[in-house]
Amino acid sequence: MSRRFWMSIKNNCIVLNKIIRSVCALLISMAFLSACQSAEKLKSEQYFVEGYQLYTTNCANCHQNNGEGMANLYPPLNGSSSLTDKALLACIIKNGMKDTIMVAGKKFSRPMPGNPKLTDLEVAEIVSYLTMKWGKDSTHTTIETVTSALANCKKQ
Ligand code: HEC
Repeated sequence: MSRRFWMSIKNNCIVLNKIIRSVCALLISMAFLSACQSAEKLKSEQYFVEGYQLYTTNCANCHQNNGEGMANLYPPLNGSSSLTDKALLACIIKNGMKDTIMVAGKKFSRPMPGNPKLTDLEVAEIVSYLTMKWGKDSTHTTIETVTSALANCKKQ
């Protein structure tokens, strides 16, 4: 009787121990995951804010703060189909463009100057701002994406 009693206590303890351990493991991995997610979110917010500032200094003159562009001179960026193509955006930002395009039913044919002085990080921040503000992205565009895009720009 007493031996059985002690055996059952021991078994219960082993089971309890296992449960506690797996609960702990779960809690730790949840904490880790949410820390990772918030670090990633913080980075996206940082890119967005930096991108906003760079947009204001380098782009808003022509495309305006609200991204609506100006008359027949500068195309609107909010609603532009280029917002889904990060590689294209990176190339346009860095190298400018000289083409004739139709945006929102209007024709634009003035050249846009490039920004050769911007670093890949700065280009990534501007792309992030554009796609998070007026596109459908909820996270930032990485420097790696921009670096590989810039290595493959078509001559514009
Ligand atoms: C001096 C005025 C000017 C500045 C500054 C300027 N742009 Fe432009 N942008 C233009 C013009 C003009 C076009 C149309 C070019 C063409 O028709 O070839 C254009 C086109 C674009 C396009 C293509 C739009 C589409 O729908 O295809 C994007 C994207 C763009 N600009 C983003 C930017 C960003 C981002 C910046 C800042 C880094 C910037 N531009 C700075 C004048 C400017």
